[in-house]
Amino acid sequence: MPDTHAPAPLPAALLSALQAVLGPKGLLTDPGDIAPALADWRGLYQGASPAIIRPGSTQELAAAVRLCARHEVAMVPQGGNTSMVGGATPDESGRQVVVSLARLNRIRAIDPVDMTMTVEAGLVLKAAQDAATGVDCLFPLSLGAEGTATIGGVLSTNAGGNTTVRYGNARELMLGLEMVLPDGQVIDGLRALRKDNTGYALRHLFVGAEGTLGFITAAVLRMFPRARENEVAFCAVRDEEAALALFRRFRDRDEGAVRAFEYLSGVGVDLAVKHIEGVTLPVSERADHYVLVDLASSRPEAGLRPLAEAVLEEALEAGEVLDAAIGESEGQRAALWRIREEHPEAQKREGASVKNDVSVPVSRVPEMIRRCSAALAALIPGSRPVPFGHMGDGNIHMNLEQPEGGDPAAFLARSHDIMDCVNEIVRELGGSFSAEHGIGRLKTDMMESWRGGAELEAMRRIKAALDPAGLMNPGKVLP
Ligand code: FAD
Ligand code: MLT
Ligand code: ZN
Repeated sequence: MPDTHAPAPLPAALLSALQAVLGPKGLLTDPGDIAPALADWRGLYQGASPAIIRPGSTQELAAAVRLCARHEVAMVPQGGNTSMVGGATPDESGRQVVVSLARLNRIRAIDPVDMTMTVEAGLVLKAAQDAATGVDCLFPLSLGAEGTATIGGVLSTNAGGNTTVRYGNARELMLGLEMVLPDGQVIDGLRALRKDNTGYALRHLFVGAEGTLGFITAAVLRMFPRARENEVAFCAVRDEEAALALFRRFRDRDEGAVRAFEYLSGVGVDLAVKHIEGVTLPVSERADHYVLVDLASSRPEAGLRPLAEAVLEEALEAGEVLDAAIGESEGQRAALWRIREEHPEAQKREGASVKNDVSVPVSRVPEMIRRCSAALAALIPGSRPVPFGHMGDGNIHMNLEQPEGGDPAAFLARSHDIMDCVNEIVRELGGSFSAEHGIGRLKTDMMESWRGGAELEAMRRIKAALDPAGLMNPGKVLP
């Protein structure tokens, strides 16, 4: 990890101008207040920053951005700081200022007729879900960090999560954006329209830009009818191919019913049971492979239970499913989901782990898991592959846990070898080295080899056109 320098204090003229624009709540300079924003969730990076700018409105943010631009101070947007790739962490120079969207957290409008809500970027994802529930609707984006991650963060990373298989990524859930450009100009694109082909779709450029083109300050989001029937099954399956076969059985029977289809490995479930209080194995015997399937319908009598039972019975007869537990109540369904959702935390508690957030065509998932697991086990003897995740969209977290009792630092020193080992196989299978977490700082050095040539050059031109001084989240996404 590079040395962290003492932060360079903001120029006095900038500091006093920011204080005047933002007021006491809008600017933190006490090192104790700033500290939590300087490290990432995974503990990969420790940055430095002289201050945190915390605007209370879009106008305040725009004014602060104009001031930073005038003084050529680089800005790092931060939402919930749950990035898996160090995207929201300033570098070690002490010259980048963190801009937190946390106070921009209002719900500006919600409309169950249009099925839209207009919310500010700092609104926590769970609060957006709850607001939709409050008007008898659903905001479907769902991920383990939903109690902390923000709307600005999920849009800026084009987050996926558990329900992509049915509702798409964050991009598909967005209709319009309000954005602040790196020079402080505001674009009001908060249009709640299903159809709007008016020139370049700038809103889509900002989705997935990871804060390198400007700020997202508010968004119009799509809502859906709330689920009135829901079934969750946790299944022990024979192997990776059986997991895929089960996905096909459910999809072919009723594609619209599948809200999530998650693969879990025996090792991953063992770790969740070991480290997370209250997590227990719901099937009678341990297996090497499991699947969690969530079926949901807005129709109150959709017949999801008979559907689940019929498909599981067929799969049991075919030898694909070894055993299955179906949640009998809201509480039991939540308990089954916890086994899945606590995977990242359980892996963190077990020791050092290296994440490979990769995707391949769905049909290649079994081959990818098998080949990567074997290659990783051979690369670092004693290490434990923990593949899990969003099988229904071909996105598996091909994570590797350190050898039991081994030295975490020595293991993490091999991070790039581990990622290269997985990426080589993923490339052969026509996949992506970054499915849903983004590039952040962690993966910038992979961009040249994966997206080099005209594609990377076009990205650089877009960056230069919108942010010619390079002040937005420098060192992220582009090498
Ligand atoms: P931050 O971490 O604060 O920022 C992420 C990036 O967006 C940074 O580059 C930052 O500069 C930029 N940014 C943030 N807000 C803005 C803004 N308003 N304007 C411009 N740029 C901005 N991700 C998934 O996709 N699927 C998962 O299933 C998933 N599961 C997770 C589980 C756990 C336990 C954890 C810790 C993380 C998980 N993540 C997952 C990763 C993470 O939660 C997502 O990337 C999320 O979208 C980040 O939101 P955030 O508000 O925390 O953003
Ligand atoms: C998840 O789906 O839980 C996270 O995106 C994956 C991870 O922690 O590696
Ligand atoms: Zn994920």
